Amino acid sequence: MKSIAVINQKGGVGKTTTTVNLGAGLARKGYRVLLLDMDPQANLTVHVDKRPDLESSTLTNLLVEDVPLKELVQPTAVENLFVVPSDTSLAGVEQVLANRIGRETILREAIEAYPDAGVFDFVLFDCPPSLGVLSANALVAADHVVIPMQAEYLSLQGMAKLLEVIQLVQKRLNPQIKIACVLPCMLDARTNLSTEVLREIDTHFGSMLARSRIRNNVKLAEAPSFGRTIFEHAPDSNGARDYEAFATEFVTMVGAAPPRSTPAGGAAPASTPTPTATPTTNGAASTPASDEPPPAAADASA
Ligand SMILES: Nc1ncnc2c1ncn2[C@@H]1O[C@H](COP(=O)(O)OP(=O)(O)O)[C@@H](O)[C@H]1O
Ligand SMILES: [Mg+2]
Repeated sequence: MKSIAVINQKGGVGKTTTTVNLGAGLARKGYRVLLLDMDPQANLTVHVDKRPDLESSTLTNLLVEDVPLKELVQPTAVENLFVVPSDTSLAGVEQVLANRIGRETILREAIEAYPDAGVFDFVLFDCPPSLGVLSANALVAADHVVIPMQAEYLSLQGMAKLLEVIQLVQKRLNPQIKIACVLPCMLDARTNLSTEVLREIDTHFGSMLARSRIRNNVKLAEAPSFGRTIFEHAPDSNGARDYEAFATEFVTMVGAAPPRSTPAGGAAPASTPTPTATPTTNGAASTPASDEPPPAAADASA
């Protein structure tokens, strides 16, 4: 399982959009993906059609009360895509944990203790726009970092601080963390501004810069209010094309093995090492016999 922190302490740069649509892009390739909403604003939770105010258990229960991850994972309407929701109570976590020893390693330990963790190929952490204890937990649990960056003036502001925090985490708490890429988001290819900013990002990050570009696309902005990923909302949009291309680049970037199951609708290969949940017409999932069944898969055709 590869764990990825999608992080940038700036708000509105495309973190949540990238977490959801990279996750969905990977799920479409047949990978099993778990999304963790680590932002009290719960934008990711809403984006995958969950209601933060109605969720009985969220990431807060894990971080504060040690509720096992197993009890928090939920299927989404997308095959292979699962979520641990967030709600506003997560905002209080920084304070509650302020004096707790080992507060930065809670999430990593919860993942290590999760018996079904191996069922997932990727777990993606959608970080809040701050570098507090929530982001620290994501960085400690992650082996790769994706930094979405808006192609506008001042987008590099704060980058030095972020890189410093990542380096510190690497030195003290998580030696294996690597920056997978900086991903330019909300690009307006028609303006010189974007081109200039891209050049500036390239000067600073060089090899860290992803080849993919996420263009400005109104369908990406619309999708969250429908509770859908871009691939359900507007499969023919530039937004879908850009995130599809990024998911493909990302698989190579992090050296992921080929997916264990075939993409949505296809039959699973005979050698699938983990039990695959089989959706049934009533929405319940039947799973082949197993000691540790994976979370139920939702019917993607619904
Ligand atoms: N490529 C894009 N084109 C158009 N709108 C976008 C794009 N990416 C994100 N948005 C919109 O911009 C806003 C901020 O994006 P979001 O992913 O929520 O950022 P963050 O999680 O970093 O705060 C949201 O309303 C989102 O729908
Ligand atoms: Mg967000």
